[in-house]
Amino acid sequence: MTTKTAAITAVGGYVPEHVLTNADIEQMVDTSDEWIVSRTGIRERRILKPTSLGTSFMAIKAVQNLLDKKNLDPTQIDLIIVATATPDMPVSSTASYVATEIGATNAFAYDLQGACSGFLFGMSTAAAYISSGRYKKVLLIGADTMSSIIDYSDRATCVIFGDGAGAVLFEPNDEGLGLQDEVLRVDGKGRAYLKIEAGGSMLPPSKETVSKKQHFLHQEGRPVFKFAISNMSDAITQVITRNDLSKDDIDFVVAHQANKRILDAISNHLDLKSDQMLINIERYGNTTAATLPLLLWDYEHLLKKNQKLLFTAFGGGFTWGASYLTWAYNS
Ligand code: ACO
Repeated sequence: MTTKTAAITAVGGYVPEHVLTNADIEQMVDTSDEWIVSRTGIRERRILKPTSLGTSFMAIKAVQNLLDKKNLDPTQIDLIIVATATPDMPVSSTASYVATEIGATNAFAYDLQGACSGFLFGMSTAAAYISSGRYKKVLLIGADTMSSIIDYSDRATCVIFGDGAGAVLFEPNDEGLGLQDEVLRVDGKGRAYLKIEAGGSMLPPSKETVSKKQHFLHQEGRPVFKFAISNMSDAITQVITRNDLSKDDIDFVVAHQANKRILDAISNHLDLKSDQMLINIERYGNTTAATLPLLLWDYEHLLKKNQKLLFTAFGGGFTWGASYLTWAYNS
C-alpha cells in the first residue's frame, strides 16, 4: 500500500430554520443582548424543532447537501464517522442510522465523542484510514443538538450553544495536499469543569438526577475559558514551529467557535490579520462538533487550492489540539 495524503474534497452543511435571538433569550433568563454580544460575540443561534428529530436529522441534511454538490453516489462511501456529543440515543450509533438513511450500503459507520474537539479528532481518524490506503472515501460529519442538553433557565450556558451539522469528504490526494500534521491532546481532569453528570454508567438517570437537573450540561465558564486559550495557543504554536510556518504563511485559521473573545485572544497570540480568522459564531453560537465544518461550509467560496489552513479546537474532556491542512480544490 502506498502512502498518500488525505484531502478534503467536498463540504456540506445544515442549520435548522428556527432562530433563537438574544432578544428571545432576554425573555427567558436575566441577561441582555449587550452582555451576550460583549462577552461571547453571539447574536443568534439555530435550534432544531422539534428536538425529537434528533442529531441524525441534521447530519443527514448536511450529507445530502454534500452529495448533491459533489454529485457523489453514496454507495461509493467506505466509512462514515459522526463526531457528536449529542447522539440520537446512547445505543445505537447515530452514524449507523445516517449511513442507512443516505443509502451508503457499502459503508461501515461509528460515532466519535470528543465534544467540541470531535471533528478535529475525526479529521485525524479519517485521514489515517485514507493515507494508509485502506479506504478511498471517508465521510466525516460534525453534528450536535446542543438544545437537547441545555437548561434554558441557566443563563451561564443557554446563551452560548446552538444546533447544526457539517460534513466533509476525505479522499486520497496525489499532489501531497490535505492533512499535513497535528497535535492532539486530552486532560481527563477537565471533566470537573465541563460535564453532564447523569445518564452514564456512574450516575444512571433517575427521578432524582432529573430533579437535580444533572442531565443538563454544566460548565464552569471562567476556568474553561482560560484553559481553552492557553491550550489552543500552545497546540497551534507547536504545529507552526515544527512545520517551519510563519503567521503570514497561513491563509486561514479554522478555530472552534466557543467565544469571540477566545478567538480574539488566539488572533492576538498569533498576531493575525483580521481576515485570517474565519468567524461565524455571531449567527450560530457554539454548535460543538459542528463548528469547524460549518466554517468550511460558510467560507468554502474563499478557499483555493494549495492554501494553508490551521484548524484548532478545545472542548469537554478536556480535549484540544491543532491541525495543519492544505486545501485541495477550487470551489
Ligand atoms: N448574562 C448576564 N450575566 C451573566 C450571564 C449572562 N448570560 N452569564 C453569567 N453572567 C454573570 C455571572 O453570574 C457573573 O456574575 P458575578 O460576577 O456577579 O458572579 C459574571 O457574569 C461573570 O461570569 P463569568 O462566568 O466569569 O463570565 P465570563 O466572562 O467568563 O463569560 C462564558 C462566561 C461566556 C461562559 C465564558 O466563560 C466562556 O466562553 N467560557 C469558555 C467556553 C468554552 O470554550 N467551552 C468549551 C467548549 S464547550 C464543549 O466542549 C461542549
